Formats: sequence, structure tokens, C-alpha cells
Amino acid sequence: MKIEDSLGIMTAPPAAIAGAADRLRAGELVAFPTETVYGLGADATNGLAVARIFEAKGRPTFNPLIVHVADTPAAKEVARFTPLAERLAEAFWPGPLTLVLGRCATSPIPDLVTAGLDTVAVRVPNHAVAQALLREFDRAIAAPSANRSGHVSPTRAEHVRDDLGVSLALILDGGRTHGGIESTVLDATGAEPVLLRPGAVTVEAIEGVLELGVRRNAGEGEQPRSPGQALRHYAPRARLRLDAHEVRPGEALLAFGPDAPPTSGPAYNISPRGDLVEAAANLFAALRALDAFRAETIAVMPIPRTGLGEAINDRLMRAAVR
Ligand code: TXA
Ligand code: MG
Repeated sequence: MKIEDSLGIMTAPPAAIAGAADRLRAGELVAFPTETVYGLGADATNGLAVARIFEAKGRPTFNPLIVHVADTPAAKEVARFTPLAERLAEAFWPGPLTLVLGRCATSPIPDLVTAGLDTVAVRVPNHAVAQALLREFDRAIAAPSANRSGHVSPTRAEHVRDDLGVSLALILDGGRTHGGIESTVLDATGAEPVLLRPGAVTVEAIEGVLELGVRRNAGEGEQPRSPGQALRHYAPRARLRLDAHEVRPGEALLAFGPDAPPTSGPAYNISPRGDLVEAAANLFAALRALDAFRAETIAVMPIPRTGLGEAINDRLMRAAVR
């Protein structure tokens, strides 16, 4: 049996979709086609699975990811809709428009997906294979474009295999994707839409539907801003003291590995067994949890700079500078 969409006959049969959903449930990575580019998907509710996305992409930083859902009701389980968002979803979903909205208080999406932000980016892809996968999995899928960091976004399954093959459980082949231009990212948290990344849905199309101007946050004609760069990530209130080997009086401790220094104060070990993927999954939650103790300073143990350690250290360094 084959799945059809506007591009023609797709090659991912139901058995492949079911297998892909199983891989996602197991916390593995699955690449899948959308109408824009191929996405590198993980269970959006599983922090460890999401950490593997960053590991596979070789991203030196934790940028917030787009949460893909099957339809508007599913989007409302993770994001707080504004009247503006209602109108945009009505007009453009399914389709290549990503809405940045407030996170639901009860959201099942871990902090690593949103880089600790209080907002979340959601979109409903218009592609038969992506839709079939989302419905079969019955949960949200976090997915950046399925290329290594700095490489071009993939429009064919072969591109994904060449770039990321070894890190993937599976690639769903949906043939060539339409454009190769990523979705438009729009902040719809307020009454006035703000363009965060130009993309497949034009500003003119959005303005036409809304009869309202879109504020451009990025200069026109520019390359889409490198993802996440202009974003404020979660900034801890506490000062961070990096590469700490001991805990000073009054300090909270962010620990890593089996040899955490003793402390009677608040402490959070992001990976007692010294695993960088686990540490990445726990990082933002740890910063938030330690901040809640209102310590003036968080002592941070040294974390290796290999693999995901690079992104972890980047995040910590940026949080330490203020
Ligand atoms: O077409 C697409 O959007 C593709 C397909 C796979 O869906 N995905 C994609 O994802 O391009 P990625 O990770 O390469 O880009 C996500 C963009 C980044 O620019 C990121 O900064 C922005 O979305 N973004 C994600 N969450 C955000 C948030 N909470 N606030 C502001 N921007 C956010
Ligand atoms: Mg990308």
C-alpha cells in the first residue's frame, strides 16, 4: 500500500510508519520528510531522545527545536494559543508556518526542546508521510532539519543518509521535498505577529490573511539568522562559578560525574555516571531547580568539552557572563 500526497506516490508504506513510531517510542532518532525539508525527529516528550538530536547534528549550541504535531488540537496540548495564533493556524495549517507561542503550564515538553524558554515553536506539517508518522506515534515530534550543523538542509532521503546515516534508527523516504526552504517562524504570542525567520510562507501571504502588518525581526534579504542566535535562553538568576572543584559556603552545586564534592547545600547532578547525553537532557531543568533555591552562586563542576560537552559548556559560559 502506498501513501499519496500532492507530490505523487510516496514510498513509505504503513509497516514502515509503524516501525518508525516504534523507534521513536524507544527514544531513537527517525528522519522523515516534511513539505519543506527532511526533519531529524525524536519523541518531543523524552529529554534523552532530544539530547541525541543535538549529538547527531553536532550542534555546538542548544537551539530551541520545532515541535511537530498532527493538528491544531494536538498543538494546543503543548502551546497556549492566542487569538492571532487561532487565525494563523486556521489559514496556514497544515503548512510551512511555525508559530512561537507560550508553553502550556502542563506541557509534556522538556526544557531541552525549548532551550529553557517559556515559549515553544509548533507546526503542523503538510506532508502525507509526516502526517502518517505523527498520527501513528500519537505524540509530538521534535525535529530540526536533518543535516549536520552548518550543512545545507536535506531535500532527499539520500542527503540525510550521507550526512547523518550512522546516528539514525531509520530514514522514511518520501522522495524529494517541495521547496528546500524551511518553514517561516513567527512569534504569535502577542497581538502583533513578529517574523523570527523568513521561510516558505511569505510575509505578504500572512499580511494578506491577517490584514495586519508583520514586524520583521530579521533584515530582509538576509540569510535566515542562524537558529537560536538572537534568542534569549533561560538565564539563571544566580551567578555561575565554572570549573569548580569544591563548594563554597552558600553556594549551590551543579555536579557531573561520580566524583561530586561533598556539600550540605542544594545540589543537582546532571549525570552521576558522567554521560554527556544524559547531562544535556538534564541541564536546563537543573539550572531552573537550583535557581529556585535562590543561592547567589551556583558552583559548576568541570564538564568535558567533547561531543555534547561542547554545547553544554557553551550554554554554561553564556549563562555565566552577565
Ligand atoms: O521547515 C522547517 O521548519 C524544518 C522542518 C524539519 O520542520 N525544521 C527546521 O528546524 O528548520 P530548525 O531546528 O533547523 O530551525 C528551527 C527554528 C530556529 O530558527 C529556531 O531558533 C526557531 O525555529 N525556534 C524554535 N523554537 C523557538 C522559540 N521557542 N522561540 C523562537 N524561535 C524558536
Ligand atoms: Mg536547520
